[in-house]
Amino acid sequence: MAVIENSKLSVIGAGSVGASLVYASLIRESANQVALYDIAAEKVEAEVLDLAHGTQFTRSSVSGGSDLDVVADSHVVVITAGAKQQPGQSRMELAGTNVGILERLLPQLLERAPDAIYVLVTNPVDVLTVAARQISGLPAERVIGSGTVLDTSRLRWLLAKRAGVLTSSVHADIVGEHGDTEFPLWSNARIGPVPILDWTAGERFSIDELDGIAHEVRNAAYTVIRGKGATNYAIGLSGARIVEALLDDERAVLPVSTVHSGALGLDGIALSMPSVVGGNGAFPIAETPISETEAGLLAASGDAIRATMQTLGL
Ligand code: LAC
Repeated sequence: MAVIENSKLSVIGAGSVGASLVYASLIRESANQVALYDIAAEKVEAEVLDLAHGTQFTRSSVSGGSDLDVVADSHVVVITAGAKQQPGQSRMELAGTNVGILERLLPQLLERAPDAIYVLVTNPVDVLTVAARQISGLPAERVIGSGTVLDTSRLRWLLAKRAGVLTSSVHADIVGEHGDTEFPLWSNARIGPVPILDWTAGERFSIDELDGIAHEVRNAAYTVIRGKGATNYAIGLSGARIVEALLDDERAVLPVSTVHSGALGLDGIALSMPSVVGGNGAFPIAETPISETEAGLLAASGDAIRATMQTLGL
């Protein structure tokens, strides 16, 4: 799929995440057309109306409703529908409910948008990415999850703030599960050309400090949910960013979640590794250098995801 002139994005679920992702997509002009679906007619119609009222200030159009036909002929479909984390609840606890929603929704979406690339955002996003791949039968590169794109943004923001540099000058990724077993790939984290552990402009990063930053990233969602009941803005922006890479055939490197085969002993498991994201979908970069310690952490992340998959018979 090359760059699409009249690109269409559909977002499933008009909750705070779905609405924020549509809003971010309109502001960033991620797609020419954006459609929002939800089973709750009054809610989705109000969200669409509120978004449409602002489209004078953007070049994208927005539509939607409670009829699944609104997603017809989409190029990218982002799925945000499902139960959301309650304060203190882990993402994995949502698996059974949300896989059930996917089993009902996905076949109907595929009828209407058979050529789309599907992006899972609903949690636990890695488990749902595996489920969506199995339900749809689509190739792995066309059924992906937002994964740790959001967590990586959180990490880069924290490192940039501490180092006093522009966030886009921080090159560091969170990989693995989008959840409690995620971890930073410190072995190839850099600020500009400088490996993170060699950064001396100002004060060096101590190992304890880097551990503290990783802990803060891993617990960021719990912190925000405790304060405001949900996370939505940053995941909305992260989703819009992934959509752009797909629709504009960017071939951007982003840590999205994909179902792995063979490499790293993760056969059939979905988790995030740096991947090339473009018009044909997402392809994990097999040559990503990881240390022995990081390989162990990745295996532990895979085990956590596999354990939940097994409880659901995936
Ligand atoms: C978070 C949700 C999207 O990390 O899982 O904010």
